[in-house]
Amino acid sequence: MGDRGRDADRSGAVTADAAFPPDFLWGAATSAYQIEGSTDDDGRGTSIWDTFSHTPGRIRGGDTADVADDHYRRMGDDVELMRQLGLRCYRFSVAWPRVQPDGRGAVDQRGLDFYRRLVDASLSAQIVPMLTLYHWDLPEPLEQRGGWPNRDTAMRFAEYAGIVYEALGDRVPYWMTLNEPWCSAFLGYGTGQHAPGIRDPRRAVEAAHHLLLAHGLSTSTMRSLGRPGNSFGIPLNLAPITPASDAPEDLDAARRVDATRNRIFLDPIFKGAYPADLLADLSADMDLSFIHSDDLAAIAAPVDLLGINYYHPIIASRGVADEPPMWPGAEGIVTVAGVDPRTEMGWGIDPGSLTSLLVDVTQRYGPIPMMITENGAAFPDVETGGRVHDARRLEYLRGHIEATKRAIEQGVDLRGYLVWSLLDNFEWAEGYALRFGLVYVDYPTQRRIPKDSAIWYRGFITGQ
Ligand code: FCB
Repeated sequence: MGDRGRDADRSGAVTADAAFPPDFLWGAATSAYQIEGSTDDDGRGTSIWDTFSHTPGRIRGGDTADVADDHYRRMGDDVELMRQLGLRCYRFSVAWPRVQPDGRGAVDQRGLDFYRRLVDASLSAQIVPMLTLYHWDLPEPLEQRGGWPNRDTAMRFAEYAGIVYEALGDRVPYWMTLNEPWCSAFLGYGTGQHAPGIRDPRRAVEAAHHLLLAHGLSTSTMRSLGRPGNSFGIPLNLAPITPASDAPEDLDAARRVDATRNRIFLDPIFKGAYPADLLADLSADMDLSFIHSDDLAAIAAPVDLLGINYYHPIIASRGVADEPPMWPGAEGIVTVAGVDPRTEMGWGIDPGSLTSLLVDVTQRYGPIPMMITENGAAFPDVETGGRVHDARRLEYLRGHIEATKRAIEQGVDLRGYLVWSLLDNFEWAEGYALRFGLVYVDYPTQRRIPKDSAIWYRGFITGQ
């Protein structure tokens, strides 16, 4: 782990003690659609995010990810950059439309070859690869057949997972199924803020169930293909939920938000059952017959690692909501992403909530090995003379790493911490306006400039 005592001397914050095990995975994360560009190259099919970003009015500034960080063509340089930054782990995602342009059937070998080259380059740089199979870029032909509200999409996903696992299971030790199914279901099919942009709360719930089913089926498929040393898991964007007051209606709002944000995923995966209160709430408004009798057993396929993407806590109340409902019964529920100080995304900065989240999940679900698979912040970065002085991001990261240390001291089995993100990139509905990177990207030239936070992080990881 190196001598981080010197960091303690400099910063007075995180210290080099036994809290972080020597094999703790320090690193960074990205996703395919947000960085790759080259959306028409090597036979890649169209994804729902291509369609969505090319629909006027959907993305801030009319941005698309047609070029993004041009990572598909600059992959070798980007891996070299990670090596220079001392990263030990790199979480990336595979674009399903590069592997199966139609989402089923024919496989394009060129897509798999790109990821094999990326993995081999990472391994050569002593960087442990963590592969996410799905970070929101569903092949458009599958959306045309009903998308995630269609049960068949879960079967197609398990097939795709098997294809990627056959190709890369010999060299990738960490396998993450679906990134933040909450976003895919409730932003994609509930509020419509994300692709495919549908506003239908019942379909959002169906999507959530089929995403869970896809997770369970794909995990079992991959495990059945061998390579027993590999780890399987799912990254969930969990959030601690607090009621805005002790009023019964606010307590009820907080319970419902916790049910649809956290427990709807954690309970089936780790307990093999949906929460009873969630089923009671939903069944008042919709027919739940899309949940088949043996689905829960499939969803509860054993996992080795829970990924937690943490950004902010949530405060819930009953009031006048200014967004369309995410799920049946969500009308009038107001959620706020924490309190000041906030990031440029409007998300409250609260490292203490990360500690309590990790401790709470451990208490509720048992001593699960966990990893912070995303944590980071958007701030307005300015490049001056080849430097980016992002003091607020540096403080954000230092504070949240300190928070993970407090969780480990309270018995949480935490295996690693990944910054979102390696690079500034296409931030979904916010386009390129918001920068989350450790590394600044000058989009017109594609020049990469490690920000002060990246330089600090390298020193922290390497002890130099
Ligand atoms: C997460 C997403 C990631 C990025 C960060 C800021 O919800 O997984 O792609 O957009 O938020």
